[in-house]
Amino acid sequence: MKIGVIGQGYVGLTLSAFTAGHFEVVGFDSNQKIVDQLNLGHSHIEGVASALLAKWIESGRFKATSNGSDIKDCEIVIIAVPTPLTEDRKPDLTFLESACKTIGENLKKPVLVINESTSFPGTLRNFIKPTIERYSSVNLEHLYAISPERVDPGRKDFNQKNTPRLYAGLNSEASKKTRDFYSKFCDELVEVSSPEVAEAAKLFENTFRQVNIALVNEFAQIAHSLGISVYETLDAANTKPYGFMKFTPSAGVGGHCIPVDPTYLAAVAEEHGAAATFIRRANEVNLEMSEYIVRRVAEDHGGNLQGKSVLVVGVAYKPNVADVRETAAELVIDHLRSKGAVVSWHDDVVGNWKGESSAPLEGADIAVVVTKHASVDEKKILASAPYVFDTTGKVKGAKGL
Ligand SMILES: NC(=O)c1ccc[n+]([C@@H]2O[C@H](COP(=O)([O-])OP(=O)(O)OC[C@H]3O[C@@H](n4cnc5c(N)ncnc54)[C@H](O)[C@@H]3O)[C@@H](O)[C@H]2O)c1
Repeated sequence: MKIGVIGQGYVGLTLSAFTAGHFEVVGFDSNQKIVDQLNLGHSHIEGVASALLAKWIESGRFKATSNGSDIKDCEIVIIAVPTPLTEDRKPDLTFLESACKTIGENLKKPVLVINESTSFPGTLRNFIKPTIERYSSVNLEHLYAISPERVDPGRKDFNQKNTPRLYAGLNSEASKKTRDFYSKFCDELVEVSSPEVAEAAKLFENTFRQVNIALVNEFAQIAHSLGISVYETLDAANTKPYGFMKFTPSAGVGGHCIPVDPTYLAAVAEEHGAAATFIRRANEVNLEMSEYIVRRVAEDHGGNLQGKSVLVVGVAYKPNVADVRETAAELVIDHLRSKGAVVSWHDDVVGNWKGESSAPLEGADIAVVVTKHASVDEKKILASAPYVFDTTGKVKGAKGL
């Protein structure tokens, strides 16, 4: 069976590499540079080994393309494109729309279309299906299903095989075919009663994390004001064997999911006249953390950071990945610069970012650790500046939350 995967990023390439052992995979991406690199066997995603990709290419199991007509004889087409926010923080379905256009314009026989991109309830039924139909020149009865991706890039213990997968089709035939597809490589499949439930479950999973992170970030500020250790308090609370789940404070949330998905839920809630006060406030608390951290650093320097050289250590949004989307480091850097600090950053996993390169881990007046990659030596961080503020709780001996 031949499958097409629209979007070859974190989700799409991971899926392509994982399923090429079972199917012939056409990986469609609108970015020609990514397509060229993939066809040379170079993976741009952590967790997808270039050697594996090269093996699939050589054996004819995988091919990347930017030519829409290459998906024309696929039997299943999976959508894995970005679903970000617009400038005014509203759901932005433009990538999804262009993916639907590619499908609509190129398929000439009915297929199963599965959406793995995260979006609000109703997206499959009210947006994806009618958009594909609008772009189709022939009247085709495609089957439609949703199976939200839960991949956590960089994570070793959970992957496509052992992470239970939610799914639902727009009709029972779509559900059955979706189950047949994922059961080839997934241990546990969970069918829900409608695509809307699956879409909402995905958003709620990430909203759950967002509000708990916001709660612990607020608690870090409370603990500091009380003169007690937030980490010791959390460890103490975590001895309760039920009814508590430990989250740890940070400079904020990043990546394509936690800062974005809850806003999709809030937007659809408000559209339906339901309040999303808690979700909105959690988002603000997480965004405000960067300002709080810079305020704490400034307080330790008599309120004045003017002219101080500050090294931000770790700009990826989380450890051991090069992903800088929505990273809290950006806000920390902005706040430091607004206080007159001379800011550089060190992150050899990221390498280059916003036209700047990773600076050496040494010689600063102040170091602020935003993300601690496993490859970065704790002692070197402590030696990089006479004052080190750690937002991760992983650098022992540094000042911190
Ligand atoms: N990254 C994660 O950890 C994660 C986890 C679960 C779910 N998701 C969701 O999966 C979806 C994809 O996220 P991602 O992290 O893989 O994004 P990504 O930015 O890593 O990759 C998306 C890819 O799609 C390509 N693209 C954009 N528009 C396209 C189009 N019209 N046609 C073909 N290719 C197109 C881009 O060039 C890019 O290579 C999003 O909805 C996201 O919320 C992401």
